[in-house]
Amino acid sequence: MARLAKVYLGTNTKMNKTIRETQAFLQALDAATADLDRAALELFVIPAYTALYHARSAAPRERIKIGAQNMCWEEQGQYTGEISPLMLAEIGIDVVMIGHSERRHIFDETDAQENWKVLAALRHDFTALLCIGETLAQKESGIADEMLRTQLILGLQNVTADMAQKLWIAYEPVWAIGENGTPASEAYADAKHAVIKQCLRELFGAAGLDIPVLYGGSVKPENAVALISQTNIDGLFIGRSAWEAARFNQLIRTVLPALKLKRSRMEP
Ligand code: 13P
Repeated sequence: MARLAKVYLGTNTKMNKTIRETQAFLQALDAATADLDRAALELFVIPAYTALYHARSAAPRERIKIGAQNMCWEEQGQYTGEISPLMLAEIGIDVVMIGHSERRHIFDETDAQENWKVLAALRHDFTALLCIGETLAQKESGIADEMLRTQLILGLQNVTADMAQKLWIAYEPVWAIGENGTPASEAYADAKHAVIKQCLRELFGAAGLDIPVLYGGSVKPENAVALISQTNIDGLFIGRSAWEAARFNQLIRTVLPALKLKRSRMEP
């Protein structure tokens, strides 16, 4: 279908990189990718909280969007340890990631909390990047599709089609993420993205098909082209393989020609 004008490529640096390391990473990534046409590429980096302020000025906003890894749904008050939408707005953050697998499974966040965060992020005019994905046990029990639909329906309650214009979805199967993860095959990932797109269509009508759906989970130079070539995969959300600017740049440059081919194949 290839109805989206851009490909979405980004990294979540998780609990890695100091302020200085984040700045150096962003400067190197920007220098390496400055020539790429942003009409066709949305590049984003989601660093650790302590580095966010400095990250904002390390690369031009029109070339690299900066995201936060989490956010409280409240604006202020008795929420020790939390960061509010007002604080992120003050820094000039573009994207807020919500419900990353590690937040759900290590820190026990619930679909209801992810929903409050999505609503708060959209209300404050951030792009909300909602992450969803099934566990290995759920996959093996044959209920992956149901889990994805549940996470979408509960996580997106009270989001209107209009608000969804600033929504991105990342499909990150829990079993595929991190050092012990096994990447999803491109066929499996594409099938799950089709389920997600169908659900977004049910929730938001035709506007649901304009929501980018990114794949994440052990993306690396060896599988990036096969993944991005799939009909329903609009972008890649990368961890370890993007944490070195030169390696991320190389991955981006491998993906872009594959995308051109995919577009020409899909156009009527
Ligand atoms: P890895 O690419 O290291 O598996 O991490 C993916 C991820 O969690 C991105 O948010």
